[in-house]
Order: sequence, then structure tokens, then C-alpha cells
Amino acid sequence: VTPVQRNCNLFRYKGYCFLKQLHNKESVDALQDFLTREDDVFLVTFPKSGTVWTQHILSLICSEGYRKGTENTSTIDTVPWFDFNLTKQDYDEIPSPRLFVTHLSPCLVPRDLKNKKGKVIYVIRNPKDVMTSMYYFNNMAVLSQKQPNFGKFMEAFLSGDVYAGSWFDHVRGWYTHKDDFNILYIKYEDMIMDLRSVVKQICTFIGREMDEASLNNVAEKAAFKEMKKDPRANREDAPEELVDKSKGTFMRKGTIGDWKNEMTVAQSEQFDALFEEQMKDLPLTFTWDL
Ligand code: A3P
Repeated sequence: VTPVQRNCNLFRYKGYCFLKQLHNKESVDALQDFLTREDDVFLVTFPKSGTVWTQHILSLICSEGYRKGTENTSTIDTVPWFDFNLTKQDYDEIPSPRLFVTHLSPCLVPRDLKNKKGKVIYVIRNPKDVMTSMYYFNNMAVLSQKQPNFGKFMEAFLSGDVYAGSWFDHVRGWYTHKDDFNILYIKYEDMIMDLRSVVKQICTFIGREMDEASLNNVAEKAAFKEMKKDPRANREDAPEELVDKSKGTFMRKGTIGDWKNEMTVAQSEQFDALFEEQMKDLPLTFTWDL
């Protein structure tokens, strides 16, 4: 366990940054012993990559089927956080297929998942937009250490001194270990450009048949403007001790390329250079703007 230079509320463990207030080494280690079920689905993202969006989609897909009646349940309850606040009994009581969400890196998730017992959906978003989104979210997140300006936040982001650690390590970790998991990769930008196709891909992956009308219905309900006015999707129920809702909203812009409104040319070039250095050996492609 090591301190995190630019964020005294975090500690680093196995390359990941945890909130001191919510975790310690022992509680993190225990997560790996969790016994998964074959039909568990773990939604995994680096923060600000479309987590709540995909959570909402999973919740909509499952409430169209035999989970009828969960339409009025908060998204956070149908797809709960794996690594927070759940007791063994809570986990056991969730009926199959259990849906979980987490930001954890591959070396921290349940060992069972690595033996392909359970499925993983990994959502990836271009990191300049992730960083921009995180900069704004940081102002709302009560437990995060505030940075005085975007430039300082970028320094922290590029050094991995933010919640969940380095974006580069997270993406690399999940990509290089992909064959250990039963995993579906989806891109935030593909969801923006053709949401219906991504919903269909998710259905196929989790073994859920959906007729055309239901598919359209899910895609319509998961559109940004719909989610923005849905208090359950917009996480208006998030606890005050974690989120200061006077400082912003979860559904902020929902676009591709907002980084251009924040980053100077010099900052963008600095980012590109580091990106090239860190990612050049990975065959991943990103959509940076439209
Ligand atoms: P922006 O801050 O760029 O607007 P996460 O859920 O991982 O924290 O990600 C939050 C980001 O996803 C925010 O990005 C948010 O607006 C965006 N988002 C959430 N729902 C969305 C939707 N239905 N369509 C597009 N973007 C969405």
C-alpha cells in the first residue's frame, strides 16, 4: 500500500487507487475470493467511460425479460456496485443473473471471473473525454481532492493520481488479460453513434433474446435526453456524503470531443505524446471527435 502523491484521500494498492474512507488492503483482498456464478455479469469501466449509461442499459434489458417489475427500482439497485457496501448475505440474496458494476482492474476482481466463471462487459472511452468528464465530476465528488484548475487535474490524471489509478494501466490491464476472461468490449463512441447495435451486442453476449420493438425501446430509453430527465438514471438519489449535487449533474454533456473545449493545443500535444508512448503496442483505436 502506497500513498498517492496528488490525492491524500486515496491509497494505491496493486496499481489501483482506492478511497481511504471506503477500503483498506484487507477489504480489497477479500473481493478476489468472491465466488461468482456462471451467469453473473460484471460491468467494468474506468470511471467516466459510460458506467451509468451501460448500467442503465443492462437494467433496461433485464427488466424487459423475467425481471419484470424492476422498472421503478433505481439502476444502482439492479446493477449494484460490486466493491462497495454489499455484505455476503446481500450478494447471496441477489437472484441470478446477478449484475454488478465495478471499476476494478483485472488483478483485483474475483479469481473465479478469470476462470471464465461469469461474464465481463468492459466499456472503453477515448481518454481525453474521460479526463474532461472526470475533471467536472471531481468537483461533485465530495471525497475527491480538488485541483485548482484543469492543467493541475491533467497532471494528476496522467500520473494516475486519481480514483482508480492510471487510465493507461487500466485499459492495458484489461486488454492484455482479455483472454483470461469471458469478455465483451464496447466503446462509448459506438454507443453514441449506433446505440441500438450495441444494445443488441450486449443482449447476445448475456444470452438475452429481444424482439425488435424491445430493442428499440431500450435504445430510446437509454438516449441521453431521456436519461437526463430520469432521476434514477441521473443518480439524484446518490448520498450527499459522496456527491454534492449543487456542483453539477451525472448526465453532463454526453458527447464525443468535449475535451476540445477544455484542453489547450499544448495540453493536447502533451497528452498525445504520452498516449503514443504508452499505447503504441496495443491495437486499440479511438474516436476522438466526430
Ligand atoms: P460527460 O461528463 O462527458 O458528459 P460514468 O457513468 O462512467 O461516470 O460516465 C459519465 C459520462 O457518461 C458523462 O460524460 C455522462 O454525461 C455520460 N453519459 C451518461 N449517460 C449517457 C447517455 N445516455 N448518452 C451519452 N452519454 C452519457
